Amino acid sequence: MPGPVVDSAYRKNIEKLRRDLRAFIAEKNCAPLMVRLAWHDAGTYDFSTKTGGANGSIRSEREFTHGANNGLKKAIDWCEEFKAKYPSLTYADIYQLGGVVAVEITGGPTIDFIPGRKDSMACTPEGRLPDATKGPQHLRDIFHRMGLSDQDIVALSGAHSLGRAHPERSGFDGAWTSEPLKFDNSYFKELLKGGSEGLLVLPTDRALVEDPKFRPYVEAYAKDEELFFHDYAVSHKKLSELGCTAE
Ligand code: HEM
Repeated sequence: MPGPVVDSAYRKNIEKLRRDLRAFIAEKNCAPLMVRLAWHDAGTYDFSTKTGGANGSIRSEREFTHGANNGLKKAIDWCEEFKAKYPSLTYADIYQLGGVVAVEITGGPTIDFIPGRKDSMACTPEGRLPDATKGPQHLRDIFHRMGLSDQDIVALSGAHSLGRAHPERSGFDGAWTSEPLKFDNSYFKELLKGGSEGLLVLPTDRALVEDPKFRPYVEAYAKDEELFFHDYAVSHKKLSELGCTAE
């Protein structure tokens, strides 16, 4: 299937959608869920078979009913309203712009957004997203399969600066930081403290401080928020374009 024609009309609609998303996310306080939707659509990518990626396939029932996607149907439904308003835009672009705007309006870095993602309904096999109960090797297996690096793993995990876990969705409970609607480097500061009363540390979060190759990035990002923002923006752009670059 060919991708969308990204002409000046398409770009204009992207800019209108960007404004609509800013207002919508601010009003609903739903930045965390929008970031998780973008990440779970993109994070199915398999570099060796060129399947999955940021292609809108999370809207297919077979994919949004995967256990890892519990709770995301709500955000998929919100995005239907934007698709109805801007029918020429692809779902894949709508979901990824949602993630980019959500990071930006909660105080995070500006992430470069290039429109033109193709839509697909091809559902990937269950199990391509990370399992929070596992350790460093699992994180590497999952993210290296996407073509991402150790540094990307640590930088992207900093998105847990936003939001919380819900027992009815993942079985985990609680937020990673004391201000879960603010995107900053507090996730890394909390990790180095070894966990504060009432805050969540998943086994995969703990893996980042325990693994000797991941830990230096955690320390650097805890110390230097500018560095974290810079690296996060680079890694998030890569994530948002998985499977979308021209062959
Ligand atoms: C939430 C696991 C990486 C963004 C969650 C939840 C789990 C989880 C278990 C709780 C879901 C719920 O109960 O509602 C993991 C694991 C990762 C990972 C194992 C492996 C490194 C990422 C990445 C991003 C991200 C790369 C974005 C770039 C989020 C956000 C939430 C979240 C924003 C909060 C959602 C909300 O508040 O509704 N993650 N995650 N995560 N994750 Fe991750």
